[in-house]
Parts: sequence; C-alpha cells; structure tokens
Amino acid sequence: MQLTVRPQNRVISLIPDRPILEAALAAHMNLPHSCKGGNCGSCRAHLVSGQVSYPRGRTLGLSEAEYRAGEVLLCQAVALTDVVVEAREIRRVSDVEIKALPCRVERLERWAPDVMGVYLRLPAIEDFQFQAGQYLDVMLPGHRRRSFSIASPPHDAGLIELHIRQVAGGEFTSAVFDTLTVGDLLRIEGPLGHFVYQPVDEVTAPLVLVAGGTGFSPIKSILRHVLESGVRRPIHVYWGAKRELDLYQSAWLMARVPHFADLRVVTVLSEGVGEETQRHRAGWLHDAILQDFPDLHDAHVYAAGPPQLIAALKEHLPRQGLPLAQLYFDSFDYAPDEQSRT
Ligand SMILES: Cc1cc2nc3c(=O)[nH]c(=O)nc-3n(C[C@H](O)[C@H](O)[C@H](O)COP(=O)(O)OP(=O)(O)OC[C@H]3O[C@@H](n4cnc5c(N)ncnc54)[C@H](O)[C@@H]3O)c2cc1C
Ligand code: FES
Repeated sequence: MQLTVRPQNRVISLIPDRPILEAALAAHMNLPHSCKGGNCGSCRAHLVSGQVSYPRGRTLGLSEAEYRAGEVLLCQAVALTDVVVEAREIRRVSDVEIKALPCRVERLERWAPDVMGVYLRLPAIEDFQFQAGQYLDVMLPGHRRRSFSIASPPHDAGLIELHIRQVAGGEFTSAVFDTLTVGDLLRIEGPLGHFVYQPVDEVTAPLVLVAGGTGFSPIKSILRHVLESGVRRPIHVYWGAKRELDLYQSAWLMARVPHFADLRVVTVLSEGVGEETQRHRAGWLHDAILQDFPDLHDAHVYAAGPPQLIAALKEHLPRQGLPLAQLYFDSFDYAPDEQSRT
C-alpha cells in the first residue's frame, strides 16, 4: 500500500499494520508530529482519499468534529487502502537531512536521582546538522525507537547532549541508569521534529521558554542558540518541576542571568516548597505565566515537557490573548511498542 503526501506529491510505501507516520519517518519524510501518542494533534492531516482505521481507538488529539471533517491523526491511523493526505506545510526543517548514525557514549553525568546527562560523540566524518529544539530517536532492536530532545545548540554540536529521565519500568531509560557505560555505541536517527526556534522581526516581542522537568533539554538548546548567536529580545525562562532537586541545571541557568540583561528566569515547584520558597515560586507553571503576563498577544511561547503541561498551556494561555499559532510545543509522550522485543 502507498501513501501520497500533498502538496509535495511524494509517494512512499506504507508499513503493514503500522501507523502512517511511522512509515513516513522511516522513509526520512519529516512530517509534522510531536508526541506520537495520539494526544497533541500535531500530526493532524487531511485525508483526501483512502481508508484508515484506529487500532488503539480514537484519541484526544482528534475531536469528533475534526474526524467528521475528514482529518486524520497520522501517528495513530493505520491505512486500510492506498491513501492520499494533505499535510500541513512542512517548514524549513525538512531541508535538514535525517541521518541514521552510530555514536559513542562519551560522558555520563548523574544530575538528579532520576536524570542522567548523556553526551554522545558522532563519527568524525559525519556532519550532523539540526535546528535548536529538535530531537533524535535512539534505535532499539526490532525497529523500535525512543525519542530524546537535543540539548546542545546547533553551533556547538561536537558532542550531542541529552537529558534522560528514568521512567519506572522503562526499558531504555532504565538501561541508561543501570548498564550504559562510557564507550558504548548507540544507533541514533535524526534530527526530527518541528519544534524549532522561529526568528521574528519584532525585537520587543517576548520570548517565553517553558520547560517541565527534562523538557528543559530542548529549551536549553533554544536558549543557548538565541543567547549565543546574539539575538536580542526579552527572554523569559519558566522551568517547573515537583521538587528543587528536579531542577537539575538551575545553577547553570542562574549563572547566565547576570550576563544577559534581557534574560529573566522563574522556577516553579509544584510540591515540596519549604525553605527554598524565596528561590522558587510554588504552584503550576501555567499559573505563574498567567500571573506575570496579563497580555500575551505579542508573546511567542515555546514549551516542552509532559503532555499535561502542554494541555494546560493550550487551554489557559489563549485566555490572556496568546494566539495558538504563537504557541510552539513538544509533548514528551510515549507510544506503546507493538512490535516484539528482540
Ligand atoms: C518528541 C519527544 C521528545 C522527548 N524528549 C525527551 C527528553 O529530552 N528527555 C526525556 O527524559 N524524555 C523525553 N521524551 C520521553 C521519552 O521518549 C520516554 O520517556 C522514553 O521513550 C521512555 O522509554 P523507555 O524505554 O524507558 O520506556 P518504555 O519501555 O517505552 O515504557 C515503559 C512504560 O513506562 C511508561 N512511560 C514511558 N514513557 C513515559 C513518559 N515519558 N512519561 C510517563 N510514562 C512513561 C509507560 O507506561 C510505558 O508503558 C521525549 C518524548 C518525545 C515524544
Ligand atoms: S497526536 Fe500524533 S504526534 Fe501527537
């Protein structure tokens, strides 16, 4: 069976019984997507012809009205016939070549009980280009993949920095904590995703960078890209976590503040606020942003982290004027494996 993507009219072969997006990514076609779990709606496309099914049921990312209007969620829909879809515009990111590469673990740093800094060295002859905010997939046996955002900025990509949170019972993230050692080889594929910094002309428009937990990883890439390439505009970083020790690079972040007059940092703890209250705010990230910005009309908000954070921002920030087109996000969801673990 075949997939045709308009307006590019690119044709690829589908993988039997697997979501359409998976075949597109395997064919190095970087269609818009984020969570791959059916929740965020980023992979929505218009079904021009053909039939699809939803083996896991229809999910939050597609409303009843959108379904009736002929929209499909490419990360969940499995084709029953040849299909033709119209995908939203693929921005400049698609010009970046997606590569499959071996890379060596150069350094491991335990930043918190459940957060590991992993530094990867790419083969010297390979030129790995990406944009600030993108992610890569670590390939596991059986064509299975695990997504992690790149924390390094494009201008400093000698070592690829990843921030990996251990998921209880998680196959790959537990291996990172238990068995991965310096010198090990990992296979990666990337860069992927459309969560990238979009330059603007209006230098007064606030840039609001929002991170939940290890969502700090792509936010760090965007922040370093903006600060170190001399972009001058008001930058507000909001980083939220449960407890202070989850803000695993707050010292690095705070050390930047005295050097950049336009940079402001707010850290927010949802649990365990005690003696540290003076350093951090208590509560939820979206409430802190709403309190600080009565009018978000001209703001550009970039957010990464758990799906609950992204959902709260999508729901609440437009109430204070943020146009949804100015909310860019990467939702750290997960898609259950269906292929056998080999
Ligand atoms: C675009 C994107 C970028 C991401 N970037 C990062 C990043 O920079 N840093 C980072 O730490 N994580 C990131 N994630 C999440 C990360 O991909 C998953 O946590 C990881 O794939 C889990 O792999 P695993 O093999 O350990 O777990 P699995 O063996 O796949 O999962 C075991 C079980 O754990 C649960 N689980 C798995 N993942 C999660 C999760 N994220 N949250 C809650 N429960 C889960 C599920 O119940 C699952 O069945 C990102 C996800 C996406 C989609
Ligand atoms: S709903 Fe498909 S990528 Fe998020």
